[in-house]
Amino acid sequence: MDFDRTLKIAPSILSADFANFGAEIEAIETQGADWVHVDVMDGHFVPNLTFGPPLCKAIRKHIKTVMDVHLMIAPVDQYIDAYADAGADVITAHIEAGPHPHRTMQAIRATGCKAGIALNPATPAESIEYLLDMVDLVCVMTVNPGFGGQKFISSQIEKVQKLRKMIGDRPIHIEIDGGMDPSTAPLMAAAGADVLVAGSAVFKGGSVTSPDIYGTNIRAIRDAISS
Ligand code: DX5
Ligand code: ZN
Repeated sequence: MDFDRTLKIAPSILSADFANFGAEIEAIETQGADWVHVDVMDGHFVPNLTFGPPLCKAIRKHIKTVMDVHLMIAPVDQYIDAYADAGADVITAHIEAGPHPHRTMQAIRATGCKAGIALNPATPAESIEYLLDMVDLVCVMTVNPGFGGQKFISSQIEKVQKLRKMIGDRPIHIEIDGGMDPSTAPLMAAAGADVLVAGSAVFKGGSVTSPDIYGTNIRAIRDAISS
């Protein structure tokens, strides 16, 4: 994975048809997805349950782009190797998931995966000041994690502007997760983000039998940013 700051759209398969992940992934990639975002939830750190490592391993063979695994689980350290073995390219853990996020980032990098740190809406940008030389991606949650289809929290625009300054020339992606659509995505791209996760805005109205809708939805986000 080479680093660049061009805009990337990362559909979240939380909004896909759970009975048809392989075909859904192939459809979104054909329709212009840059990364595939996989939301792992444990029913403890967040009030919802989703995917374990075997599911991630099973869908890996359908992903040609980047498998971006977002771990909303606590504790997290003991599961990192399993998600790396499942084929993740990027593993993101939450700074709120435990007392030792620095150790967590070391553990992710030790697997050879890119290391991401995610911040909940209430967590300040400054909380990761001493992690910046340990991370490849910062994920700013623009909803409270746990569910797709929630409303964008606009206070996070200022947080992204701060993070963009803090990051400077370091090769660190800024990813935005939650409530991204053609009206909110341009705000975050302008603030300095380069990876936009979008679940409901990409999958709405489409299906594997009408995948062109996914393409229309992805293009609507891109066009809103470039116009
Ligand atoms: C929320 C997840 C998100 C979510 C985004 O906990 O981390 O990735 O699926 O969904 P939308 O785009 O619908 O807000
Ligand atoms: Zn996510």
